[in-house]
Amino acid sequence: MRIRVLGSAAGGGFPQWNCNCRNCAGVRAGTLRAQRRTQSSIVVAGTSAHEAVLVNASPDILAQLQAAPQLQPARAARDTAIRSIVLVDGQVDHTAGLLMLREATRPWPLWCTEAVRLDLTEANPLFAVLEHYCGLEHHTIDPVGTPFSVAGAPGVVWRAVALHSKPAPFSSHRNEPVHGDNIGLLLEDESTGRRLFYAPGLGAMSEEAWECMQGADCVLVDGTFWSEDEMVRLGLSQKYACDMGHLPQSGADGMIEWLDRLPKATRKILIHINNTNPILDEDSPERRELDEHGIEVAYDGMEVLL
Ligand code: MLT
Ligand code: MN
Ligand code: ZN
Repeated sequence: MRIRVLGSAAGGGFPQWNCNCRNCAGVRAGTLRAQRRTQSSIVVAGTSAHEAVLVNASPDILAQLQAAPQLQPARAARDTAIRSIVLVDGQVDHTAGLLMLREATRPWPLWCTEAVRLDLTEANPLFAVLEHYCGLEHHTIDPVGTPFSVAGAPGVVWRAVALHSKPAPFSSHRNEPVHGDNIGLLLEDESTGRRLFYAPGLGAMSEEAWECMQGADCVLVDGTFWSEDEMVRLGLSQKYACDMGHLPQSGADGMIEWLDRLPKATRKILIHINNTNPILDEDSPERRELDEHGIEVAYDGMEVLL
């Protein structure tokens, strides 16, 4: 199983178009040692060389596809290696790219939970809009750990677990999260038995999420914020990490502490990094701290083989 990170940043990307925080200004000016990053998305490929599954369709999908020529096998006048799309939540940074993929020559096989399907039908009528273009072939994810397979990733067994996090800001139940607003995906390569746990929007550790993390050879998890009050302290928002459904890395019970409890052999990678997060500065003490804990930071184009 091959996983390619198309976009490693959180909503807004890095640098964010209207942001002049230290990171965004520094990377724009070339005075900060940091890599630019597009918004949150990965592709998963199994035993087939010319097929893959897109997990999350970011607003940057067109640039991401151009940066990954292997996803254009050119077998027909209109072609793509992407066979299906899976959504882990209904957030704008994970779904706006669906509109950019509307020229598909057949309805997209689209996997998401019932909670996400409702948000993208009612509060945000995205799915109805797509019916006027390529259309969608809906598949429901029941986030209770039942194995399923997705066309485009032969040899990969998928399982989904509900996470404690938040639905999108436009959701009718933003402050009363329901089962399935956000999921984590446990992907297993059938032949090697090796597993990846992918959870870009993990607000708080739960028994189910922790079980998945312990059973994985590689965890690719929420790296949005370094600290709980990061956006507030910078004067950029009134929202704390917990208000947005993201577990910060630092502090008691933070992501670093959880990752430290995993076996040494587990590969630990942070993804969905917000542009304010000091770990984006490769010379920062926070980034050094991650290095000391053996924690990697995902970048666009990163590949994981399991
Ligand atoms: C999030 O993950 O909290 C959202 O992507 C934020 C956003 O859409 O800007
Ligand atoms: Mn997001
Ligand atoms: Zn910024």
